[in-house]
Amino acid sequence: MPTHPPDKLLIATHNPGKVREYESLLADLPIQITWLDAEGIDLEVEESGSTFAENAILKASAYARHSGLWTWADDSGLEVEALDGWPGVNSARHAGPHASDADRTAILLQKLKDVPPEKRTAVFRCVVALATPDGRVWTTSGSSRGIILNEPRGSGGFGYDPVFWVPEYERTYAELSPHEKHAISHRGRAARRARELLLKLLSD
Ligand code: IMP
Repeated sequence: MPTHPPDKLLIATHNPGKVREYESLLADLPIQITWLDAEGIDLEVEESGSTFAENAILKASAYARHSGLWTWADDSGLEVEALDGWPGVNSARHAGPHASDADRTAILLQKLKDVPPEKRTAVFRCVVALATPDGRVWTTSGSSRGIILNEPRGSGGFGYDPVFWVPEYERTYAELSPHEKHAISHRGRAARRARELLLKLLSD
């Protein structure tokens, strides 16, 4: 598909943890991995879409156009079924720009305080978009199901991990090792699919 194989892939994030995770996933691909801070890119792209896919495509396309590089961007969040999918695409922002993960989790638990365990089901979703500077774009997605607990458990991970209970493991995401979480998580699933897609695009 590429007119000539790209030698560099831009990961569209300022988060070094995400970069490390994607770097190790893509280590054996014939492409060098870079990220916004390493390229000195300070363009901010507003996540104004109403779905994870729209936001991932917005970011990947804008940074690919801006940088001239093949670009990988993701968007993710939590959908709670008893709350009609809230907080969804606003998972990172629903409590305002200065709130912490703990603040956002406390609001979620407050909203669910009268909801019984069997109705506290939730889905984490992630979409990865791959875009080229000339405007082509592909997406992959992944999801993982769990139950929102009444109170946090565990100290690993980030975001809503301490209240996201995985019945098969009888632990929360915050009680899994990064390796265990990556094997079953929405982001791990979407990223492994994007890796396969990229591998194919690089060899076409
Ligand atoms: P983003 O895709 O990095 O913008 O993340 C969106 C938001 O969704 C994060 O700030 C978290 O609140 C939530 N989120 C996404 N993935 C996870 C996860 O794996 N664990 C916990 N929270 C997550």
